Amino acid sequence: MADEEFVVTPYEVRGKVDHERLREQFGAERLTPALLERLRGLAGGELHPLLTRGVYYSHRDLARLLDRHAKGEPFFVYSGRGPSGPLHTSHLVPFELCRWLQEKLGIEMYIQITDDEKFWFRPHLTRAETYRWGIENLTDLLALGFDPKRTHVFFDTRSIGAMYSIAVDVAKRIPYSTVRAVFGFPPSQNIGLVFYTALQTVPAFYPSWVAGRPVNCLIPCGIDQDPHFRVTRDIAEGLGYPKPGLLHSVMLPGLAGDKVMSTTGDTRDNALFLNDPPKEVARKLRKAFTGGRTSVEEQRRLGAVPEVCSVWAQWRSRFAESEAEFETITADCRSGKLLCGDCKANLIERVNGFLAAHEARRPAARELAESVILETAPPRATPTS
Ligand code: TRP
Repeated sequence: MADEEFVVTPYEVRGKVDHERLREQFGAERLTPALLERLRGLAGGELHPLLTRGVYYSHRDLARLLDRHAKGEPFFVYSGRGPSGPLHTSHLVPFELCRWLQEKLGIEMYIQITDDEKFWFRPHLTRAETYRWGIENLTDLLALGFDPKRTHVFFDTRSIGAMYSIAVDVAKRIPYSTVRAVFGFPPSQNIGLVFYTALQTVPAFYPSWVAGRPVNCLIPCGIDQDPHFRVTRDIAEGLGYPKPGLLHSVMLPGLAGDKVMSTTGDTRDNALFLNDPPKEVARKLRKAFTGGRTSVEEQRRLGAVPEVCSVWAQWRSRFAESEAEFETITADCRSGKLLCGDCKANLIERVNGFLAAHEARRPAARELAESVILETAPPRATPTS
């Protein structure tokens, strides 16, 4: 594969991803400062750091959703997680934005936990494992602080009764040739995953189906998930549902300097897991890939390169608490004032502080999990076709 080539689907990321080119290939829009300012207005004057620091960079239909919202037709947010193991810090990116949107706009949140998808996708995972990771991951997500009264969870193998009516309608509209082309499945692909995209569409339509009128949906997600939602958007109006809007984030680099913080195979050291003990965090961060120079002298003289640094990516996506702090870290890195060892030591402390506080919020979140999983659809929701 030539250097400038890359492939991104929900099931594969290959090559060196150029996010701007990927956005164009997918036909999505650039997230402009003007749009962000409109969102800031709706959110009461603030913007989440993931928006101001460019982690979210692309969208579909955000302008329309903001218009409708401003006219008194609130959208809801939807994101999901395929539970194949413990969550790492990059997995929090969509949920952190959803939590913030829920708080600022007072909107509903739908979370999908796809234990079926990961069982179908990962040859060596058992049902028991994807189920267990589903509950663990959901606990971590709820511990971010979603509003219990406005948060609803589709846990696929438990919620299928509530989901199936919509899935049946959706599945009839998706030709096999589309799934094969969009996801690049080989002929040996099990048919679970072929059907699965119908299930990932369901939460986007569910509130409209229950209400019996169009309710707009906004899906914050990594841009690798966009192919699923292109399918969703193509069939939405034919079924009488509004097309969901999307907010795409970049895929964050792993600690080993890999293109994405993925942990497939034996790459545990590539990510910071929410259940890593403090010593593990320190060990992984000390050896993390940076944009630093080969010697202290050279770094003082030339400065380092934050854009390629996996440690900077962590400050950027979660751990720098204020814009001022983020700007200082970035400027001092670039100028050579801040050396990688000191920067890493600061981050180790910050991450371990966050993980300890997170751990303390988990027991209440675990209890909450049982009460927010949807198991049956409300009786008034009848078939639409
Ligand atoms: N397919 C996603 C994954 O593998 C999980 C998912 C389900 C999702 N619904 C979603 C992700 C909505 C983003 C938005 O992790």
